[in-house]
Amino acid sequence: MGIDVIRTGAAVGAEIRGVDLSRDLDDGEFDAIENAYNENGVIFFRGQSITPDRLLLLTKRFGNLQLNTFGETLGLPDFPGIVLVSNVEEDGREIGIKRAGENWHSDMCYTPKPPRGTILYAQEVPEIDGLTLGDTCFAATHAAYDALPDAMKQRLDGLIAEFDFAARVRAVPITQAQIEAFPPVTHPIVRTHPYTSRKCLYVMRDDCTGIAGLDDSEAQRLIEALADHIVRPEFVYRHVWQPGDVLVWDNCTVQHKAIQDYDLPLRRLMQRTTFAAESAPT
Ligand code: SIN
Repeated sequence: MGIDVIRTGAAVGAEIRGVDLSRDLDDGEFDAIENAYNENGVIFFRGQSITPDRLLLLTKRFGNLQLNTFGETLGLPDFPGIVLVSNVEEDGREIGIKRAGENWHSDMCYTPKPPRGTILYAQEVPEIDGLTLGDTCFAATHAAYDALPDAMKQRLDGLIAEFDFAARVRAVPITQAQIEAFPPVTHPIVRTHPYTSRKCLYVMRDDCTGIAGLDDSEAQRLIEALADHIVRPEFVYRHVWQPGDVLVWDNCTVQHKAIQDYDLPLRRLMQRTTFAAESAPT
C-alpha cells in the first residue's frame, strides 16, 4: 500500500495514511514522511499502536533525542527519552507534566539550539459524550511571515530577539537551578527553514524578552504585535486528538498551544519525545 498525504486545508498540517508505525519503515517510506513533515509543518498518523521502543526508533529517524528540562522527573519509567504529558495522578502524585504548553510557544526556544521537532503519541484523550477536549493548536510561522507588509519585512530583516527562560516563572513553577542552567540566548526574529528555505517568524510573548537595538517598550510592542499576528485564525490548524494518534511537529514552521479545557476525572495521557536539529534554521 502506498503512502497518502492528505492536507488538512489549514495553513499547516497533513494526515499521513498507509503507514503502520509498529513496523520498520524503509528509507523510501521515511523519505516520503520526512518530505511531508518539512512541507506541512505538522503531520499525523491515526490509529497507531506502538511500544515505547518503537516511539524512540521513530524519533531517532528524525534526529537525535533532545531532553526537555520539564521532563527530567516525569519520564516514562525505564524510558528516560519519553516524557509523559498528562493530568493523570497515581497514588496522589502527578505522573506527567500537567498543563504543558498552555501558552503559544516553540519548544525550548530558550536554548541555543532549539529542537527540530516534537512527537506526541496520544494514549488517552478526554471526551464527554463524543465531544473531544484537549485539542492542540498549531500556528504557521511561514504563512504569518508571508502575510506581513513589505515595510515590516524590511524592518525585521536582521533583528535579533532575546529569549529568557527565567521569564517562564510567570507561567509555570521553575527552580533557581533551572534558571541558572538556561541563561538568556538570542535568535533571529526571522529564521530560514533549513529544508524548505521558507522564512519563518520566531517570536512569542512569554519567552521572548527583548530585541537587540530597541528600547524595552518598543521591543515589547513589536514582540506583542508579531506574536498576536502569528496566531491569527487564518494561520492556525487545530488538531482534535483521537487515541492512537502519533503527531509530529516542526518547531521552526509552527508554534503550538495546548487547550486546557478539561480536568480530572477526564484523563489525558500523551507520550512525548523531542528530536534535535541537524541543520539549524539560520
Ligand atoms: C506541549 O506543548 O508539548 C504540549 C502539547 C499538548 O499537550 O497538546
